[in-house]
Amino acid sequence: MACTRLISGAALIAISVGLAGCGEEPAGDEAASVAGPEPAVIDERQANFKSLGKSFKAIRTQLEGGSPDMTVIATAATEMNATALKLESQFPEGTSVDDGFDTEALSNIWDDPEKFTEAHKRLADATAEMITIAEGGDAAAVGDQVGAIGGSCKNCHDTFRLDTD
Ligand code: HEC
Repeated sequence: MACTRLISGAALIAISVGLAGCGEEPAGDEAASVAGPEPAVIDERQANFKSLGKSFKAIRTQLEGGSPDMTVIATAATEMNATALKLESQFPEGTSVDDGFDTEALSNIWDDPEKFTEAHKRLADATAEMITIAEGGDAAAVGDQVGAIGGSCKNCHDTFRLDTD
């Protein structure tokens, strides 16, 4: 079947409302014709999450070396904290996966906004604390805080991010 390769993700959403056929249009465009143009904020927040992941990895890499550079760790934690704060305003209503967009944001973000805000706060607090700990220079404490930050990522993903694994 010529259209088989389109039957996934966004294409399914379009098909389910009867707008998509087996034409040449890419699946993303079909979905966008249902939900309207993809809000730029989705790309922006996804880029911010990628940046969070990169900075977090920079911290963990320092710990693997045996002689962690606390300045590198404090800088990465500062970046993570700033990014966490930016992300708080990057979830306007109507930008969930249920709205037909290419996003892993689940609609329960807006069903339970207090819990989502709490999950954001946990990340913001954990990264702020990492700055202080790195400035203190105790590698074991930095290691413990890596666990706390990682826990804050998982805490939110478990509830609010589409599980694509
Ligand atoms: C308050 C909730 C929350 C916290 C805290 C959180 N995430 Fe996420 N994360 C999400 C959501 C929701 C998405 C899906 C965003 C989308 O697709 O629009 C996501 C997506 C991502 C992505 C995929 C981005 C892409 O390429 O599309 C990465 C990587 C990621 N998060 C890493 C992290 C890391 C690392 C942490 C912790 C340091 C973290 N996240 C903390 C909610 C959170």
